[in-house]
Amino acid sequence: MACETALEHLKVIILAAGKGTRFKSKKPKVLHEILGKPMIFYVSMAAKWLNPDEIIYVVGHQKEKVKEHINCDGCKFVEQDQQLGTGHAVSLAKEHFKDFDGLVLILNGDTPLIKGETLKNAVKYMEALIRYEGANASNFRGYRNENVAGVVLTARVPNPYGYGRIVKDGSHIIQKIVEEKDASPEEQRINEINSGIYIFYAPYLAKVIDKLDNNNAQKEFYLTDVIKLLREEGKDVYALEIPDPTEILGVNDRWELARAENILKNQYMYFWAINGTTFHNPETVWIEFDVDLSPDVEIFQNVMLQGETSIGEGTVIGANSIIKNSKIGKNVKILPNTIIEDSVVEDNAVVGPFARIRNSAVIKEGANIGNFVEVKNSTVGKHTNAKHLAYLGDAEIGDDVNIGAGTITCNYDGYKKYKTVIKDRAFIGSDTMLVAPVTIGEGAITGSGSVITKDVPDNALAIERNQMKIIENYRQKMEQKHKKEEK
Ligand code: UD1
Ligand code: CA
Repeated sequence: MACETALEHLKVIILAAGKGTRFKSKKPKVLHEILGKPMIFYVSMAAKWLNPDEIIYVVGHQKEKVKEHINCDGCKFVEQDQQLGTGHAVSLAKEHFKDFDGLVLILNGDTPLIKGETLKNAVKYMEALIRYEGANASNFRGYRNENVAGVVLTARVPNPYGYGRIVKDGSHIIQKIVEEKDASPEEQRINEINSGIYIFYAPYLAKVIDKLDNNNAQKEFYLTDVIKLLREEGKDVYALEIPDPTEILGVNDRWELARAENILKNQYMYFWAINGTTFHNPETVWIEFDVDLSPDVEIFQNVMLQGETSIGEGTVIGANSIIKNSKIGKNVKILPNTIIEDSVVEDNAVVGPFARIRNSAVIKEGANIGNFVEVKNSTVGKHTNAKHLAYLGDAEIGDDVNIGAGTITCNYDGYKKYKTVIKDRAFIGSDTMLVAPVTIGEGAITGSGSVITKDVPDNALAIERNQMKIIENYRQKMEQKHKKEEK
């Protein structure tokens, strides 16, 4: 049999129909998030990395929701309305592999830490077994070992509890896989576990998949039983032990979810550290999947970087700051306890401590946003300062403007939002109320405490206060009045 063409072909089946009972959740298990992405995303990513002919998802419990999160062109879905077991799930996908002269890789949707590279090595191993390659590969080229039916990824773990155990015959060939609940005390002591990741030669799998039964402790159709069935056909399934057991951590409850998240987070942080990011107290820092860091970024404790966030070279992020879906430029100083969401902060700006930047705000180059300043859906021009206690909402603020402490853009009348325009070099006195819509001209000044309700022309002073009164010797008058009353 010519094998060269067959082995270039690979299909992937991802099992994602289960409810995840142990999560005790209204949300399907595979949609629970790890570093801001649903668990199924990571399994899909590893599968896509192999560039297979096709990815087939078996969905069931809340299938519409699960499908929504799997956005992948050309993916196929198979629906499993009753979750009768992993073997049953694969049997429903049979139409996709029964006439396929290639390999089928099966992945559990709840094993998010698996790496594409590990899967690729497993596929290569399977191919090598079939081609009988080895030390003398060239001697055997073109030969095909017809007995090789599959490879199961396994790992040795200190505590195998809950996983299927790999029973071998002394070689790498697996005799059977026994589930925890069906295992004898002796089998329970086996510490080599089933990862739930398998590669099968499709025609062999198709031949046995409908022969599974559910005579077991859980009354389920176990995929793991295909190994026994293949043996009965005289076919062999091999164990491939992977060195890092964390890669095949099965996430069955929320504590395992937390563990998986921690492991992945440490891998990302290691990656960024090696690429030039300094982390202080890294165990307290949170970095999600879509974050992009540059060299010489420095991150202090309890920082959270979420969503699609990028941080430019030389930027320092102070303790307890949260940055989500935002682009931060180079050499920016984010001082502690600052929150930035869906916004842009340009090079050399200073933001915080205790600042809040949100809803498409743009803080331009060299601007300085200080403590207790909130900037919402506003542009703050180059080298403009708003250093203390202000609310800047729906405003367009020019360059070199000074925003005094206590300035507020009164942008909302209870029905609609209105815009405030402050032109270059304007000086907004402390405690100015800018009642929008309103425009402050270039170089204009507002007197502190003023309520500005009309546009201010360029270079003008706008002041709105009662005239100040001085009443001389007021204290003495008060005291005399008080004494009279006491008598
Ligand atoms: C499974 C394996 C076990 C292995 C472990 C690795 C079986 C019988 N057991 O056990 O040997 O050590 O994974 O993590 O396969 N699913 C469906 N339809 C179903 C049942 C499950 O799509 O009817 C999906 C689930 O959504 C999940 C995956 O299959 O993504 C695994 O199912 P789960 O019930 O978690 O199997 P385990 O008990 O962990
Ligand atoms: Ca599982």
